[in-house]
Amino acid sequence: MIKTSKSQKSIIRKPAKNRWSKGLYKKMIIDQRKFMWEPEYVALIAKWVGFKPGQTVVDVGCGLGYLGTLYWPHFGKNGKYCGVDVSPKLVAQAKKLSHNWAKSGETEFKIGDAYKLPYPDKFADVVMCQTLLMHLADPQKAVNEMYRILKPGGTVLCKEPDNLSWSLQHALTSLPELPVEDEMFFRKIDFIYTQGRANLGQGYFNAAPRVPLWLKAAGFSQIDAKIASQASLGVPPYETPRQKHEIAERKESIRSSKEPSYKKQANEHFRKTFFAGGGTQSDYDKYLKLRKKNRPRKKLYEQQIKNGSYYWFNARQLFAIKGNKPR
Ligand SMILES: C[S@@+](CC[C@H](N)C(=O)[O-])C[C@H]1O[C@@H](n2cnc3c(N)ncnc32)[C@H](O)[C@@H]1O
Repeated sequence: MIKTSKSQKSIIRKPAKNRWSKGLYKKMIIDQRKFMWEPEYVALIAKWVGFKPGQTVVDVGCGLGYLGTLYWPHFGKNGKYCGVDVSPKLVAQAKKLSHNWAKSGETEFKIGDAYKLPYPDKFADVVMCQTLLMHLADPQKAVNEMYRILKPGGTVLCKEPDNLSWSLQHALTSLPELPVEDEMFFRKIDFIYTQGRANLGQGYFNAAPRVPLWLKAAGFSQIDAKIASQASLGVPPYETPRQKHEIAERKESIRSSKEPSYKKQANEHFRKTFFAGGGTQSDYDKYLKLRKKNRPRKKLYEQQIKNGSYYWFNARQLFAIKGNKPR
């Protein structure tokens, strides 16, 4: 891993906390979740974690309550779901939406910070989170809090990705292959960008492989992990509901990437993150040049998406990691 230098540490700042209630971010926590965990696999994870009817379950960084919708059938009867999130808007919406899925048992929603959870010690049977730790500047502090509010014998479940490994994969697609040198250079950029995010206090794109270490340091034992079961693929003419959904998402992402305000923001965000990650001016210039060189390839991608001929196959890097609080 690239080390954080002193000068990089001096630019560490707190991330914006409420962006998830707005625009594309909000869309992400709705659209990306539609086919994220299939019901059979949810049942398997529920058994693995030990969800049981009547339990008290806390969902930290609950967003719109997605994890509640997944696991409610496994603990909800006479149980209690407690969603906590730093965004007042998301908490209010999650509360409204919960009437659709929390049919028996009790739900409670609170505005609160993962660093200082609004629950007493030994409160919950299960504490869970998804794509929360990856966005925190100090995930260890949040994991320590999860440990504090768990009953002895309780379980923590963290669902986090390793987006760096994901981007380092070679995904086979229907586009012409890049020259190896260009491919390798883009991978280098991914490393620098990931480091930049961490240095800026925007969290760890490669959170998943760190989660077991955070759990261990907090005091958890019996740590174990599973990888999500679904690959990401699109085989024209996209006959499955999931592939149809992924194609629609790709179309939407092409559309929004063309909005001038989005482009400007994305370019500025990239530039800042790149230099915060230790990137050099010459690599930055090389990156811009390569992007320009690849414009025809990008056009071809957009054409293939539009005419329904794009093929892709790669593995998602999304994990479920659990640990037990010793009795
Ligand atoms: C990527 S979203 C995930 C939402 C939800 N877990 C899901 O999978 O749909 C991250 C969530 O964490 C919340 N969040 C970010 N920082 C937080 C903090 N310090 N304390 C509590 N929630 C936080 C955000 O408001 C957002 O709802």
